[in-house]
Amino acid sequence: MVEFDDDFRRHLRELFVWRRDVRSFRSEPLPDGAIERLIDTACLSPSVGLSQPWRFVTVDDPARRRAVVGDFKTCNAEALNAYAGERAARYAALKLSGLEQAPCHLAVFADKASDIGHGLGRATMPETTEYSVVAAITAMWLAARAEGIGIGWVSILNPDRIHAILEVPERWKFIAYLCIGYPEAECDQPELAQAKWEYRRDSDEFTLRR
Ligand SMILES: Cc1cc2nc3c(=O)[nH]c(=O)nc-3n(C[C@H](O)[C@H](O)[C@H](O)COP(=O)(O)O)c2cc1C
Repeated sequence: MVEFDDDFRRHLRELFVWRRDVRSFRSEPLPDGAIERLIDTACLSPSVGLSQPWRFVTVDDPARRRAVVGDFKTCNAEALNAYAGERAARYAALKLSGLEQAPCHLAVFADKASDIGHGLGRATMPETTEYSVVAAITAMWLAARAEGIGIGWVSILNPDRIHAILEVPERWKFIAYLCIGYPEAECDQPELAQAKWEYRRDSDEFTLRR
């Protein structure tokens, strides 16, 4: 048995408050074993039918990394084109990935055709496979922050091109591309809130009572 006391709960809340999406990284590498430890913790996450559909790809090859950076630049330019006027100027000023500085790149996929879990829970809601992978990424994000390591989630990418660049099995669905390293700065507010792009709303706004 293990018990968690008030002190632990206060600390845990601080972890949630101080977790950030990180786009600016220091250049120093992570210690040996850090990525493996984070993956190991992520694998403790809940998954539909215990299907454990998460698949991790560490991307170290410089040519593949350059190709991912190139894809980000293409997608980000297209995203910018969808805005106009002042909103476009503000979008252009945002830093939306740390791909070029982050010491570690980790791509995360969902294996939609895995037999693990014998299909339990997936017949009515097959999308729970992807939800399970997102749950694992969230756990990794928090575990990393507890070690002073930052993670930035990059979704401004073309999934088909990421598939081709990384040469992963066809049935894997691309879920996330993560930049991982030591953050340049720490803050208890989202960068997008600091940049006045969007603000964090009260949880009441998202809660219905029936
Ligand atoms: C599914 C997902 C995709 C995201 N994609 C990007 C992205 O491509 N670029 C980026 O700068 N931030 C991305 N983010 C980070 C969010 O912008 C960030 O979580 C949000 O602004 C709140 O900030 P915080 O994580 O520091 O609390 C993504 C986050 C999630 C959950």
